[in-house]
Amino acid sequence: MAKVEGLMRTHHCGQLRASDIGQEVILCGWMNKYRDLGALHFIDLRDKYGVTQLGFENYQGDLSLLKSFSLESVLWAKGIVGKRPEGALNSKMATGEVEVQVTEVKLLSYCDNIPFLPHGAIDSSEDLKLKYRYLDLRTNELQKNLRLRSETARLVRETLYEEEFIEVETPVLYKTTPEGARDYIVPSRVHPGKVYALPQSPQTLKQLLMIGNTDKYFQICKCFRDEDLRADRQPEFTQIDIEVSFATQDYIRNLATKLIKNIFKRPEGFELPKMTYAEAMRDYGSDKPDLRFGLKHSIVNSCFEGVDFKVFSSVIDKGLIKCLFVDESQGNLARKDIDALTEVVKPYGGKGVAWFKKSSEGVSGGISKFISDEVLQKLQELTGNKTNGLWLFSADGSHKVVHDCMDAVRRHLGRKLGLINEDDYAFAWIYDFPLLEYDEADKRFYALHHPFTSPVDEDKEKFVSGDTEALKNIKANAYDVVCNGYELGGGSVRIFENKVQQRMFDVLGFSHEDCQRQFGFFIEALKYGTPPHAGIAFGLDRIMMIFNKTDIIRDVIAFPKTNNATDLMASSPSIPNLDQLEELKFKFTTTE
Ligand code: AMO
Ligand code: AMP
Repeated sequence: MAKVEGLMRTHHCGQLRASDIGQEVILCGWMNKYRDLGALHFIDLRDKYGVTQLGFENYQGDLSLLKSFSLESVLWAKGIVGKRPEGALNSKMATGEVEVQVTEVKLLSYCDNIPFLPHGAIDSSEDLKLKYRYLDLRTNELQKNLRLRSETARLVRETLYEEEFIEVETPVLYKTTPEGARDYIVPSRVHPGKVYALPQSPQTLKQLLMIGNTDKYFQICKCFRDEDLRADRQPEFTQIDIEVSFATQDYIRNLATKLIKNIFKRPEGFELPKMTYAEAMRDYGSDKPDLRFGLKHSIVNSCFEGVDFKVFSSVIDKGLIKCLFVDESQGNLARKDIDALTEVVKPYGGKGVAWFKKSSEGVSGGISKFISDEVLQKLQELTGNKTNGLWLFSADGSHKVVHDCMDAVRRHLGRKLGLINEDDYAFAWIYDFPLLEYDEADKRFYALHHPFTSPVDEDKEKFVSGDTEALKNIKANAYDVVCNGYELGGGSVRIFENKVQQRMFDVLGFSHEDCQRQFGFFIEALKYGTPPHAGIAFGLDRIMMIFNKTDIIRDVIAFPKTNNATDLMASSPSIPNLDQLEELKFKFTTTE
C-alpha cells in the first residue's frame, strides 16, 4: 500500500542503498557528527531509522555555515545519492555504501548547550537522563524498546480480536478498587470535600461489564497504585486486562498460553507448565520461581530428629528446615563465598546459612560434626542428591523466613555460578493459591489475590460456614503466570453469588457500613443475574522487561517515574496552585 505523502523528506536516514545512486533526495534529521578535513566536509545525519553520511563536494554555498551548526541541531538537506569512494565504504552502516552529495542545506532548529549527547561518549547520570528523558529517547536502545512495546500491544489486540474480544475503556476517575495498595485520590471541585480514586485496576468495572452482557472484554489500561516501589514496580503501570463470562480456569490458561506464545514467539505446541502454589513454595520457596535453573529446595526436618544441633532442634517441630544442594559439577564455592551467604539471607530475617561439604572422603566443614552417616544417608535418600557437593541449610520457626532465605540463596547462586541461560524464557502457571492470609499480629484475614476471588468449588461450603481455622486452609480458584522469577500476570475465577461476596467482605473485616459505602453498588449488581466469570491481568511493563531482557522497568516506559515516584523531567508531583486549592475547598499542609 502506498504510504501517506506530505513529509518534508523524501527518505529517512536509514533507507538509502546503492540502488538509489543518482536520485535526488531530501533528508531531515539530527546532526550526529561533523568532520572538517579541510578540503572535505562530512556530516552524519541521524534520525530514528539510522544514519546517512552527507558529503559537500558539490556544495556551492558557504561551507563555514556547517561550522555554525552544533551537534544535535536539526537539519534539512537536499542532494544526489552518490557512491562512496572504495576506501570510505562502511559495512557496519546500513547506508554505508552511499553518501548524499548535498546541494542545499538548511538549519531547521539549533541545538543550544545540550546537557548530554544521547549518542555521545559523555557518560551521564541516570537522574540527568531522566530529567532530560526526551534526549535519552533519541537513543536506539529506548526507541527499540518503544517499538517493541507498540508491536506487543498490537499482537495482544490481534490475538484477542481473533478470539472475539472487544476493547472497552473504563473510567479513571472512579472509586476505590482494592488490590492491596493505597489509592491515589483526586479531589472534586464540583463536590467539595469528596474525592475520586484512581483505579488500582479495573477489577469491579470489568466484572460489571460481564453482568452487562459484554462476554469477552479486554483493555490495555493504566492502573495506579500508591505502594513502595521496586525495580519492577511503577506507581502507574499498564495492564492487559481481561475478563470472560462462562469461563473456567482452563479457558483462561488456554487463552494465556495463546497470548504468551504469540508475544514471546514460542513454537507450535507451546504450553504453560502447571505448578501448584504448594509445590512452588516447597521446591523454590517462592510463588514466582525462576525456572531457568535447578538448585531445588528440600524440606528436611525429618532428617534431623534427635540431632543435637540447636539451630535445627529448636525449630524442628513447628518450624522449617530447608536445604539446597550444589553438585560439585555446578561449581565450587570458596569458604568466603559460603560465609557471604549470611549477608544474602539477612534482609529476609535469616541469621545464617548452615553448611557442610560432602566429598569422596566424607563430610567436612561447617556443621559436619552433626552429620553422622545416618543423617547423611537420610538427607541423600530424601533429596536424591547422592553425589559430592555442598549442602546449604536454613532453619527458622517462621516458615516464611526459611522460604524467603532459601529463595534468596537459590537466586544468588544461580547468578553466581552462571547457571542461568539469559536467552531462556521459563514460564509457569501457578495455581491453587490459598484464598486468605491470616495475620497473627492483626488477628485478621487478608485476601491473597483480591476480595473478588472465588474459593475453589470444593471449598465453597467451608468458606460460607467455616470458622477461623477452617478459613485458613481454603484454596482460591486463582492463578499467576510467572516467567524468569517475575509475576507477569494474575487472575482468578470470580465470586458471582451475592451471598458469597458479602461473606468475603465480612471475613476480611469490613463493617457493614464500610462495605455498603465502598462496594454496595457492586454487591447489589451481583443480585440481578450474574454469569459465572473469570479473568486475568498481565503487567505489560513486566512483559516488556522480560522480553527486552532488562531488570529495570523504567527502560520500557516512555516517561517513567523514579523509585520514589517522582517525574524528574516535569518535577511532578508539585505544589498545587493556591487558587486551585481554594476552589476545591481543600486545606493543605506541607513540610517544604
Ligand atoms: P494484580 O494485582 O496481580 O492483579 O496485577 C496484575 C499484574 O500487573 C502487574 N503489576 C505491576 N506492574 C508494574 N508496577 C506495579 N506496581 C504493578 N502491580 C502489578 C504484574 C501483575 O501480575 N485485577 C487483578 C487481575 C485479575 O484478577 O484479573 C490485578 O490487578 O505483572
Ligand atoms: P552457631 O551454632 O550459631 O555458631 O551456628 C552454626 C552455623 O549455623 C553457622 O554456619 C550459622 O551461619 C548457621 N546458622 C545460624 N542460624 C541459622 C539458621 N537460622 N538457619 C541456618 N543456619 C543457621
